[in-house]
Amino acid sequence: MKNPISKLHNIVNGGLRKAKLRFMGSNLDLAVEALRLYNGAVRLNLGTLNPSNVPQRINGFHDLAFLFASHQANRGVIAQDFDEASYLWSVIVSRRPRQILEIGRWLGGSTVLFSAAAATYGGNVSSVDLKLKAPAYADDKLIVELLSRLQL
Ligand SMILES: C[S@@+](CC[C@H](N)C(=O)[O-])C[C@H]1O[C@@H](n2cnc3c(N)ncnc32)[C@H](O)[C@@H]1O
Repeated sequence: MKNPISKLHNIVNGGLRKAKLRFMGSNLDLAVEALRLYNGAVRLNLGTLNPSNVPQRINGFHDLAFLFASHQANRGVIAQDFDEASYLWSVIVSRRPRQILEIGRWLGGSTVLFSAAAATYGGNVSSVDLKLKAPAYADDKLIVELLSRLQL
């Protein structure tokens, strides 16, 4: 029997988008297993790291993004992969902008990220959104409540 990666590879390359999604939807375990094999210890180890992804030195947790798998399947309430979020965090805490303007916050995960980074040195974040994407989920009240609970 073919392993999950080559099975999914055939589906992704051989079928229509809807058929692929239907297959993955009805074979969730297989899809997760394929991701785990693709991103996990079976295929990767410290010797397979791309040296250009390993920083010269570690200045904080954000510099450890190279240790993690970053892809759409492990996103949560932020539309960024872990390495993207850690990069934005490192830019903010190293350049320390006094004002940050976020254009497009969607669910607000990025607003929390930017606010937390800016709070490390006393910066301010302003955020705007036209609510084009799933406005029912992008509830400003939830964002304000969370920011205030986190004292951001
Ligand atoms: C990909 S989402 C943002 C993801 C979010 N920054 C994150 O990292 O989780 C794009 C958002 O931009 C908003 N948007 C698109 N065009 C805009 C504009 N011209 N001004 C303000 N918001 C805009 C949409 O409503 C949507 O919520």
